[in-house]
Amino acid sequence: MDKLQAQKKNNRLLIYGLRLQINHHNHLYYVLDKPAISDAEYDKLFKKLVELEKEFPDLVTPDSPTQRIGGEALKKFKSVTHKTPLLSLDNAMASPELEAFDKRVREALGKDKIDYVAELKMDGLAVSLIYKKGKFVTGATRGDGVHGEDITQNLRTIKSIPLVLNEPVDLEVRGEVYLPYNDFIKHNEERKEAGEALFANPRNAAAGSLRQLDPKIAASRPLDIFLYYGAANNQQSHYETLQYLKQLGFKINPNIKLCSGLDQVQAYIKEWDKQRETLDYEIDGIVVKVNNLAAQRELGWTARAPRWAIAFKYPPMQATTVIEDIKVQVGRTGAITPVAYLKPVRLAGVLVQRATLHNEDEIKRKDLKINDQVVVQRAGEVIPEVVKVLKHTADSKEFKMPTTCPVCAGELFKPEGEAITRCVNSACPAQVKERIRHFATRVAMDIEHLGPAIVDQLVVNKLIKDVADLYDLELADLLKLERFAEKSAQNLLASIQASKNQPYDRLLYALGIRMVGRNTASLIAQHFDSLEDLFHIKADKLDHIYGVGPKVAQSVEQFFAQEENIKLIERLKESGVTIKTNQTKGPQPLKGKTFVFTGSLEKMSRSEAEEIVRKLGGHPSSSVSKQTNYVVAGAEPGSKYDKAKKLGVKIISEEKFRNLL
Ligand code: IVH
Repeated sequence: MDKLQAQKKNNRLLIYGLRLQINHHNHLYYVLDKPAISDAEYDKLFKKLVELEKEFPDLVTPDSPTQRIGGEALKKFKSVTHKTPLLSLDNAMASPELEAFDKRVREALGKDKIDYVAELKMDGLAVSLIYKKGKFVTGATRGDGVHGEDITQNLRTIKSIPLVLNEPVDLEVRGEVYLPYNDFIKHNEERKEAGEALFANPRNAAAGSLRQLDPKIAASRPLDIFLYYGAANNQQSHYETLQYLKQLGFKINPNIKLCSGLDQVQAYIKEWDKQRETLDYEIDGIVVKVNNLAAQRELGWTARAPRWAIAFKYPPMQATTVIEDIKVQVGRTGAITPVAYLKPVRLAGVLVQRATLHNEDEIKRKDLKINDQVVVQRAGEVIPEVVKVLKHTADSKEFKMPTTCPVCAGELFKPEGEAITRCVNSACPAQVKERIRHFATRVAMDIEHLGPAIVDQLVVNKLIKDVADLYDLELADLLKLERFAEKSAQNLLASIQASKNQPYDRLLYALGIRMVGRNTASLIAQHFDSLEDLFHIKADKLDHIYGVGPKVAQSVEQFFAQEENIKLIERLKESGVTIKTNQTKGPQPLKGKTFVFTGSLEKMSRSEAEEIVRKLGGHPSSSVSKQTNYVVAGAEPGSKYDKAKKLGVKIISEEKFRNLL
């Protein structure tokens, strides 16, 4: 061996040794939460490795701990087809459903008592990780269960995901990525400072971080993972599989429990209902899995979920707090909504400070007063609400609806028999902002980079006062503003430009006509080729359209009777915004057909399916009637299925639906 070769071998050994040490300490710190050396000592090792790799770049390999944040920002995520679908779990909302599950399992297996593994159900984002010869090669989101997105670059930045395993095995593991609760709070505070939109909950924050094309963003957030499933080798039970995954270097939740029979599962559920607040991450239930893998195979799967597992969901979390104040908010249509400002309280993993009170009648009905002690509740995604008053206090005082608008001081009006009070000044800055925000949303004109904070800035600085003004914005206007640099300003202008080509039914929805939702807009657009055909339209020309009721028709008439709305549309047209049906639209095989979707679809979300129906000339609707042509039933269909049966409406599967396209 010549000198050069010997030196090279020596360097390789040095680098290899450092990597082993660093990986070991990474594992101790991030996976086992038991660091053995100080941060400074760790940094020293890391720095040494970085220096050596810099000196000998041909010795750098992708599995080196220095390479977690590698590569450029992507243009788009690649799609990944999962080898076996990532199915979801059936839910048990209460004890009887859990008992029924246990009974089914016992009967199917012919046993009196089943061994289960009970696990916490983390509320994060499901991912699949693929290892080849012990090296992490691909990581993907669940997506629609069959196709996910390749987010390998982002997953590599999560330090508790090993880049190299302790054995050179080929395997797929699945788990849940989450953002610890305290980091979520901290991160939201930073966003608030920066004037960015806040994440509603830790799950959204985790998902938002993993869906960033630039891996530096995921790397800057302390994401973590627990693995809960693996197609490993020769294990007899799920519990053993998890132990094996742990040996390989994966992070497994320490609170899993082997339970003999349902009673022990019930005890575990009770225990964690009390303890969940002590965790530093959010859980929304308990997953119960049959432990024996041969038994799992015998039970098998339905199209949607395994028969050997069930998710017990905890009921919505409630907490007690105090209403410190009640203030009103002004919405897009001028609706005045009272909002309770609460003494901050942690609820289902989220710090809650506000709750909607809907309207004045609701406040009266619940007898809510400022300084009352109340019970608040948060269920899933919905905005927290006040369930009831626990007690009035000595300081309790009645809330009085304002008589003038709190934003523009204009007149308020509450029509006879209606619950909602409105500000009637359509130039009210609060309404202006909300209208523009609505216009820009994803389902409307989908103007990227035009979030609520930016709209606020544009309106406050008097650059825009309505949606047509957006199309007159120029680079120089934006550059004067605080938050814009050349690049961000250009990005915004490009998105505004791109929105000109949105199909006109989106524009019709984006105009924010009261009672005209996405589906109604597309229905009207199918009957009228241009927005100009709707100018000064009378309600009786509309309410014969199936799916458009008299109230909706009235609202459309009112909107197009107003000269200022017509002027607005004319200005949009002058700017080049599409205001008529695109004559070069594709084939319309579903023309005139009405579809209702029920249950969960496997290959697409409901809104995607509805968008496809619209594109192909059909009409999606949310309620079944005799005029419905097809009801598409996914897994666990709801009452629409029964109604379709009763009315004799044709019911088809998702697969049949796809064949129609
Ligand atoms: S097992 C076939 N275990 O819950 C295996 N899922 O509603 C199916 N989840 O998409 C999943 N914690 O993202 C399993 N300990 C756990 C879980 C868990 C959270 C999520 C998972 C899945 C969803 C099912």
